[in-house]
Amino acid sequence: MTPYHLIYTSRATVEVDDDVLRSIQDRASANNKKSGVTGLLLYGGGNFLQLLEGPISIIAALFEKVQQDPRHTDVRCVHFGRAPSYIYPEWSMGVLNVEDAGVGISHERLTAFFAEPATSSHECYKQAISVFEDFQAQLAGGVATTSAS
Ligand SMILES: Cc1cc2nc3c(=O)[nH]c(=O)nc-3n(C[C@H](O)[C@H](O)[C@H](O)COP(=O)(O)O)c2cc1C
Repeated sequence: MTPYHLIYTSRATVEVDDDVLRSIQDRASANNKKSGVTGLLLYGGGNFLQLLEGPISIIAALFEKVQQDPRHTDVRCVHFGRAPSYIYPEWSMGVLNVEDAGVGISHERLTAFFAEPATSSHECYKQAISVFEDFQAQLAGGVATTSAS
């Protein structure tokens, strides 16, 4: 079955370090594995950008829960709709800090995404999905460093 994609942005309310990202990844990986959700969470410059992929009702319920998390605020859905395929079928939730060296998504690119938001929601979706797809292509080419489980 083709998945739904939900992409959102948010702003961290806490100092985000490795411990914070690891604790999010631990819960996300365990829960998402059980419910058949996959995706990627990016952090950089105080902002999160997350792609959730999976069945519509499961993604919607998960988004409700994640929105309540006090570690971030200003949660904005960029896109929620049917997708042709999974981008990260193997990842119950990859988590990347783009400020770390060696990560295949430049800090500048994520910063530009947040600093210069697209004027239409379709453009915003296209920008976000290209970040995720380009990173996936780098993984396939064996270039990027990953932190996934
Ligand atoms: C930016 C961000 C992304 C998150 N992504 C997920 C996720 O994909 N899946 C998940 O189960 N929890 C995610 N969480 C954590 C949830 O908000 C919540 O803390 C967790 O699901 C609670 O797990 P529990 O019900 O098993 O205790 C995320 C939290 C933040 C701040």
